[in-house]
Amino acid sequence: MHDLVIPGMIDAHVHLREPGATHKEDAFSGTAAALAGGAVGVLDMPNNAPPITRTERFAAKQALFATKAVADYGLFAGSDGSHLEQVLAMAPQAVGLKLYLDETFGDLRNREPRSLAETFEAWPGPGPIAVHAESESIRISLDLARRYGQHVHICHVPHPDELLVIDAARQAGVHVTCEVTPHHLFLSDEAVARLGSLAQMKPPLVSPADLELFWERLDLVDLIATDHAPHTRAEKASAEPPPGVPGLETTLPLLLAAVDDGRLTHERMMALVYTRPLEVYGLAAPESEVVIDLSQGRYRLPLEGYHTRCGWSPFAGLPALGRVAKVTLRGQVVWQEGKLLAAPGSGRPLERVADRDRG
Ligand code: NCD
Ligand code: ZN
Repeated sequence: MHDLVIPGMIDAHVHLREPGATHKEDAFSGTAAALAGGAVGVLDMPNNAPPITRTERFAAKQALFATKAVADYGLFAGSDGSHLEQVLAMAPQAVGLKLYLDETFGDLRNREPRSLAETFEAWPGPGPIAVHAESESIRISLDLARRYGQHVHICHVPHPDELLVIDAARQAGVHVTCEVTPHHLFLSDEAVARLGSLAQMKPPLVSPADLELFWERLDLVDLIATDHAPHTRAEKASAEPPPGVPGLETTLPLLLAAVDDGRLTHERMMALVYTRPLEVYGLAAPESEVVIDLSQGRYRLPLEGYHTRCGWSPFAGLPALGRVAKVTLRGQVVWQEGKLLAAPGSGRPLERVADRDRG
């Protein structure tokens, strides 16, 4: 088999832990892991410690990424329902606003109906409001988007039946987009018996039958985003393991194996990991190229050898195809044969289409 060449993927949902939990990952190790996995752009979530709910925290995080990132990035603003004026002030620079309506890792939460309504009413864009929402909260989010004419993006859809709810809202004119994670497509809840807390995340894995339904309804999904959420092995082995799994370096080979199996077409895969993430967030594609070596055929994902600081993967052992041999970003070779060739700080904020077109 020959090499496959694609543009670098855009991962619209990652947690690179910078600032606040850099023992798990940081802007450097996380963007290096992105390049290793064939992604040249990542959108980073605001559930840091402290959460990115204030302009000065947003600016401090921007400064850290500006000196450390080796891939391009967009940063989300967050809101806990307080200081709405601060949240709105982050809008022009943020890739979107992230709201957590349900429990997950970290303290960032906003589920108070009045402040949610105020936030949906006031958010000026241009980025969408992305929500961590499960079951009832999805309906609340869709209703708020309809009421205030907002673009709402449903992160990591928890169950395939929610895809039908989201699609019905879309048909009814709500501006809604959604994402599914690779773990919901490639790991069922049977993995929890095998891996314990290493297979625990929010939203949790679904049954094998529901996993199949995710595949059957993939046409209703805008994009695949990893929700790369690294925690150390020790944290995962603790009495109260935090939810979340890494995914930056395993998504492309898993998807290429799925294309090989005829589960989706190559074109559809590229729409899910490249075209639609850019469109949903209104971003311009950085000029990039990923060369994937297919010469070794199918293999099983390894237990070790990852570049994410957490060093493990819940996908180890799963069938995979293709290895990232070379990544070029803006004409520079940034990754080749397992080696990082980009300098810290060479990653740039992803540009908005509107800004680029303005010149
Ligand atoms: C994420 C994390 O660890 O930050 N955990 C997770 O289980 N997905 C938070 C989140 O996206 O819910
Ligand atoms: Zn997440």
